[in-house]
Amino acid sequence: MNLIEVKENVFHLHNGLISYILSVENGGLLAHLYFGKYVNQYHGERHYPRMDRSHSGNLPGATDRLFSKDTLLQEYSGNNTGDNRLPACVIRTANGARTVDFRYVGYQIINGKPNISGLPHAYVENDQEAQTLVVTMRDATIDAKLVLYYTIYRDRPVITRHVELKNESSSSFSIEKIASMQMDLPKQNLDVISLPGSYARERQIERQPLRRGLTQFESQRGSSSHHMNPFVALVAPNTNEFDGEALGVMLVYSGNHQMSLESDQVHQTRLMAGISDYNFDWQLAEGATFAAPEVLMTYTDHGLNGMSQAFHSLLRERVATSKHKLTDRPIVINNWEATYFDFNTAKLKQIIDSAASCNIEMFVLDDGWFGHRDNDKTSLGDWFVNTKKLPGGLEEVADYTHDKGMQFGLWFEPECISEDSDLYRQHPDYVLGVPNRGRTISRDEYVLDFSRPEVVDNIYQQMTKILDHVSVDYIKWDFNRNLTEVFSNTVTPEHEGETTHRYVLGLYSLMEKLTKRYPDILFEGCSGGGGRFDAGIMYYMPQSWPSDNNDPIERLKIQYGTSLAYPISAITAHVGTSPDELLGRYTSMDMRGAVAASGTLGYELDTSKLAKEDTDKIREQVSFYKQHRHLIQYGNFYRLESPFESNHVAWMFVSPDQNEVLLFNFVVLSQIQNDFHLTKLIGLDANKQYTDTESQMQFGGDELMNVGLYDQPIQSSDFSADIRYFIVKNK
Ligand code: GLA
Repeated sequence: MNLIEVKENVFHLHNGLISYILSVENGGLLAHLYFGKYVNQYHGERHYPRMDRSHSGNLPGATDRLFSKDTLLQEYSGNNTGDNRLPACVIRTANGARTVDFRYVGYQIINGKPNISGLPHAYVENDQEAQTLVVTMRDATIDAKLVLYYTIYRDRPVITRHVELKNESSSSFSIEKIASMQMDLPKQNLDVISLPGSYARERQIERQPLRRGLTQFESQRGSSSHHMNPFVALVAPNTNEFDGEALGVMLVYSGNHQMSLESDQVHQTRLMAGISDYNFDWQLAEGATFAAPEVLMTYTDHGLNGMSQAFHSLLRERVATSKHKLTDRPIVINNWEATYFDFNTAKLKQIIDSAASCNIEMFVLDDGWFGHRDNDKTSLGDWFVNTKKLPGGLEEVADYTHDKGMQFGLWFEPECISEDSDLYRQHPDYVLGVPNRGRTISRDEYVLDFSRPEVVDNIYQQMTKILDHVSVDYIKWDFNRNLTEVFSNTVTPEHEGETTHRYVLGLYSLMEKLTKRYPDILFEGCSGGGGRFDAGIMYYMPQSWPSDNNDPIERLKIQYGTSLAYPISAITAHVGTSPDELLGRYTSMDMRGAVAASGTLGYELDTSKLAKEDTDKIREQVSFYKQHRHLIQYGNFYRLESPFESNHVAWMFVSPDQNEVLLFNFVVLSQIQNDFHLTKLIGLDANKQYTDTESQMQFGGDELMNVGLYDQPIQSSDFSADIRYFIVKNK
């Protein structure tokens, strides 16, 4: 089947699930017509209505007043040329003008999906999987060529978009803003869902009705941030987890981002996503091309779960590139909260011994193993072993771990530097900072200027020295602060506005080189918890640490929110201590285990100091998790009841063949005389017989989905969990 049809300047991308329609309008403007459910018969009769709109101008040379850019639904708007809404692109030319007006030139259809050089992106494994529409536009005055890429996958409700801008003039110009995509939607009532948060409280779901004016979700922190994830969903007001239309938009980028929504004078909605224009000013030399990061867009009428599942499978199958992208992830023990900086080889061995006896599969040595790092004031940038703490080197710890039948993992924070470090003493200019101005200090560290290839290379050389000699199976890649005083010491002033994006490109180049050189290593992203949980990182690292907050009650929200956009295999979740390290809340091992086992399970405590009943519990949890890990990490995940709305939280996992079901119910606060609680499952085969493996009771699939189940009496205390496992016998 051809996925892209072209008829009289109308482009229809469709795959049986979705349709995306755009057309060339008067004057060669590119107009948006439709993105939504698959349309089988499109006759192209819908044109943008003509109407004389007072105070909205007309194209230069127009003979009537019936057509205005100012209200046209567009695919990519210019600036300062008759459309007074938010511009997609602002270019400053040598004469100081900031006028941009792209007009259609032509198109091309290619099989498959082209790569974007230097940037992470969704990909295809063969050219049959997708087709790409490439539309070329041009601003003839500036002499700039804009190329818009639209890829539609054959079997996914997904469109990917990005743009490339080429300077074809004979002098450089400055890009002040360049969105990766724009889509203008006709008048309709919409809610917007975003994922704001903070340190230790990442990706909390917020939903709000869209009103007139500008609504913007943005990070200006140099990274995708704890504070606002590069993701939004536009949904109908009646959309819930199970039903209703949802349009999801995600940027494949780990730096400053901007998702903008503008509801215009006639209630149309302009949606835009891309790099933030904050502190952005890119000098594009004559002949040079700028590639903007990619945007992933999904459409479903199966509610938020439908949207999430489309993102989950896309991210794990066609964004993650690691050879581990579909492998069962090991159960980790991490020493951070067990020891912080205070450890030595003997202490680590005790943790490894006790973790091995709990059948945990990997030991991760966190912060503090390098330079002379005994606290967070020192040694970032000095990636050689701290022999005072580890006289036998990392080799001794790695070998000991391997001898116990476990894998060995190691923490790095490659982008940061301490003032007290050999690297800083040798190369003070490697740090981001403005001459003669104090530098903001955060967690007692500074950020290396990764816009400079020689700085990236220094870190690369240091890391390979370790990784070539120590047998490392996993790396936790941390980044514990935001960018400030962004300024590079080696470029001319007119290029300073490029530094933030060049930093991200430098970061990606290092990730690319290391993940290519060590394809067997499982990489986990981290940024002071979940400060960089995005699709860009996922391209290199198939899992990320979503939060330093291990309290299971807070984790219900963090994991629920994260799952709106990101797959469970990517969401690591550790059982911490009780009382919790950050919150001081007391919770049972069962509750902590059930929440952590809803993601990629691990432990963040000192197993050598636990009472026998706790290590027995851990053994049980590990064995439960090993049995169900594949279903949890790669099954279809459904959110049933939200911790943002209810005291009762539920979610479930269904195997792709619908023969296995794991249902998790949680009660936050216990209540006296509580209501009977009924859970209706979803995503089962209506015609199959499911057996509850504990009670051996039988249920029809349709029975579980429509009649539902009363909860088993959950223990009458705060913070409790119940897990039920159903299987189809005699398949
Ligand atoms: C960050 C991470 C933690 C831990 C510390 C170490 O906060 O999120 O998991 O690695 O750094 O300094």
